[in-house]
Amino acid sequence: MLPEIEMPGHSVAALTAYPELACKPGPYEVRTTWGVDENILCPKEETFTFIENVLTEVMALFPSQYIHIGGDEAPKTVWQASQIAQDVIKRENLKDEHELQSYFIRRVEKFLNAHGRRIIGWDEILEGGLAPNATVMSWRGINGGIAAARANHDVVMTPTSNTYLDYNQGDPRFESIYMGARLPLMTVYAYEPIPDSLTAEQGKHVLGTQGQLWTEYMQTTRDMEYMAFPREMAIAEIAWSPKAARSWDSFGRRLLPRLLALDRLGVNYRFPGVESGLEKNQVVAGDTVTVTLATPIPEAEIRYTLDGSEPTITSTKYTGPLHLTIPADGSVSVVARAFLDEHHASPSRAATFRRATTTSTR
Ligand code: ACM
Repeated sequence: MLPEIEMPGHSVAALTAYPELACKPGPYEVRTTWGVDENILCPKEETFTFIENVLTEVMALFPSQYIHIGGDEAPKTVWQASQIAQDVIKRENLKDEHELQSYFIRRVEKFLNAHGRRIIGWDEILEGGLAPNATVMSWRGINGGIAAARANHDVVMTPTSNTYLDYNQGDPRFESIYMGARLPLMTVYAYEPIPDSLTAEQGKHVLGTQGQLWTEYMQTTRDMEYMAFPREMAIAEIAWSPKAARSWDSFGRRLLPRLLALDRLGVNYRFPGVESGLEKNQVVAGDTVTVTLATPIPEAEIRYTLDGSEPTITSTKYTGPLHLTIPADGSVSVVARAFLDEHHASPSRAATFRRATTTSTR
C-alpha cells in the first residue's frame, strides 16, 4: 500500500485550511462535489515547506518505497495570472506554467529521494519534463505510459478505458450506480498492460496495472464493493498472470466459487450478467435478426423477455441463439438477465432491434 498526497491540483481542502498557500487571497471552501478546480497550490517557498512537513509525516506512517504525489488535473489559469508564479518561472528560467509544474514536482522528488523514497505520479507529470527518477501512472489512455517507458521510466498502466472501476459496468438503465462511461467486466479482462508498441526491453518498465475505484458516485461501502467485484478479480488476473495463460472462458469457469466465497464474507459484489449480445440497439436490414447472448458463468442461466419487462427467474430460458422476427415498421426489444438462483441475479441488459425503413422525401 502506498499513499497519494495530491499536488499541486486537487488541493482545495489544503487551501481551505491554509489559504496562504494559494496564489489568490481566500477564503476557500472544501469542495463537496467532484471536479477539477482552478485553485491549485501556489509555488511559494511556504508551500514547499508545508508539503515537506506533510510528506515527513506521511513517510513516518507509510514505509512504502513509493509516495504518490498526484500531479493530475492542475489547471494553470491561476498560475498564469499570478505574479508570484510568474516570478518563479523567471527566476528558474522556465518556459511556461507546464515547466513550472515540472519544477514543482522535481523539487518534491528531490526531497523524497533524499529520504530514500521514490515518487509516482499521474501522467500529467510528463508535461513540462519528467522528474528524473519518477514513475508514471498512465491514466489518460496509454500514450503517457508508452512515452515514459521509452524514456526509461517505470510505469503503471491505469487507463480509464480498461481500469477505471468507477465507470458503469452494464446498462445504465438497470444499474444502481451510474457514472457516464462504461467499463464491463469483459473489457477489464481483455486488457494487456504491456503495450504492443514497446520493445521487450521497454516493456520491462511496465511494473503492472491497478484498478481505480474513485468514489464520487459511491455513497456506502456496499456501493464500493458492488463496483469493485468481480472486476477487481479481473484486474488481479491480468496483473499477475502472463498474457498467454489468460482466457476469458477460463476466468468465467473459475468465477462462481470465488463469488460464493465473497458471499461468505458478506461482500456486495455484482453478479455478472449478459456480457455480450445486447451491447447496443441495432437497425436491421430485413425482417429477422439473430441474437446470441452470453454470460461468463457457465452455471448461470440466461432468462429473457421480448415485451420490454425485466426478466424474472421464471421468464423464458435462453437455450440458444434467438431468431426474432421484427414487425413491419417496428422493433423488438430483448431484455435479459443471468440467474444462478433467487439470490444470485444479474442486473438486466436490453437492446432494441429496429427494422430499417425507407423514408420518402417530398
Ligand atoms: C485521475 O483520474 N484524475 C487520475
